[in-house]
Amino acid sequence: MPAKRRRRAGQSEMIATNPKPKQSRLTEILAHASGDKRFKILEAHMKKHQFKQDALIEVLHKAQELFGYLEDDLLLFIGYKLKLPASRVYGVATFYHFFTLKPKGQHTCVVCLGTACYVKGADKVLAAIEDQAKIKAGETTPDNQLSLLTARCIGACGIAPAVVYDGTVTPRQTAQSALEHLKGWIGHDH
Ligand code: FES
Repeated sequence: MPAKRRRRAGQSEMIATNPKPKQSRLTEILAHASGDKRFKILEAHMKKHQFKQDALIEVLHKAQELFGYLEDDLLLFIGYKLKLPASRVYGVATFYHFFTLKPKGQHTCVVCLGTACYVKGADKVLAAIEDQAKIKAGETTPDNQLSLLTARCIGACGIAPAVVYDGTVTPRQTAQSALEHLKGWIGHDH
């Protein structure tokens, strides 16, 4: 796939702003990671590649599959585990067009479209959200309240179909429960 340079407004601010001291930020990220199964799956994937720095692109792909997009904490976690400077991880994540950085919506909703979730109706959940929010997966509502994304298996197949609302993995979603969850986030400004 040809590499295209990403042009994103605000990218430089995102890289530059990190008000917390590095160590305490990392401690927080690692504490958060210990309670989120997706980080464990990602770490197992890095281990499979023997934590080799050459595997960075591969690892970023896996991270995006698991989380739907690459947010700051995730990139810092990967850098820490692969012993790479954050600048290198951000550099690669922002260079390739197939990586999505944290979307601009105030809230994020990631619908898992992996096989287990799909066969249990994740497509209907996604369609209902797209219909209600009047956006497609990968887009943000015009009022910047909601960014809608999809992922490929977030490691929660036992509770399929799973949807992640602002970082919280939520089990057994239906079109109805998803719309209920998104009340207040959508339907204002369009
Ligand atoms: S397929 Fe959705 S969590 Fe595995």
